[in-house]
Amino acid sequence: MTTLEILVTDTHEEASATLAGMLAEAARAGAQIALSGGSTPRPAYQLAAELEPDWSRATVWLVDERCVPPTDPASNELLLHQSLLDRLAHRPTFFPVPTHVGASGAADRYERLLRSTPPLELVALGIGPDGHTASLFPGSSALEETDRLVVATEAGLEPFVPRVTLTLPALAAAAHVVFLVTGAEKADAVRRAFGEPPAMATPASLARSANGLTTVVLDRAAACLHT
Ligand code: 6PG
Repeated sequence: MTTLEILVTDTHEEASATLAGMLAEAARAGAQIALSGGSTPRPAYQLAAELEPDWSRATVWLVDERCVPPTDPASNELLLHQSLLDRLAHRPTFFPVPTHVGASGAADRYERLLRSTPPLELVALGIGPDGHTASLFPGSSALEETDRLVVATEAGLEPFVPRVTLTLPALAAAAHVVFLVTGAEKADAVRRAFGEPPAMATPASLARSANGLTTVVLDRAAACLHT
């Protein structure tokens, strides 16, 4: 059975602290953790590194990645290094997406790796104003994937480069899926993702832990249209 909980905090800072606390606890417990890119979670990742500088028992995956070199500002690998990994006293095992082999080869390798390890325990997601999550964009054929855990997908947004993303089945298999969404420009996407029936037009409405918990952490601005 899937359980959805919505936590509304006053500010982006409080929302970030909520996710940071969950990440620090998961790191301490040596969990398998998958992290999204985007600008929203940066402060949460930084705070998580302060709260728990020893991530040596944990394993960190990327929820999605753009096929760019790891030094490119659009790289989620770079973002994770800057906001989390390079700030830790003891790093986790980290699996970047091997984008140098191209999107489809990288998806195949990441899939094999993911299947060879215990299931994901905590997955941190964001939402775009169009309702996308991970690199699962409205109307994308990647949303129809029922078997694979990782696929190559088309770019739905700038930069228009191929991407690699966890699929809905991969997200569904996770014990705990946590969305961090802040800001008024996301309010309508939040309403569609968590207040309306699931639809391909709003990929975040389809991303749920199937047998565990899905938590949505919002600030007041992002929650303002949610009933
Ligand atoms: C990414 C993502 C993506 C992101 C949303 C929200 O790497 O870009 O995984 O799904 O979470 O686009 O991004 P912002 O936090 O920048 O609004």
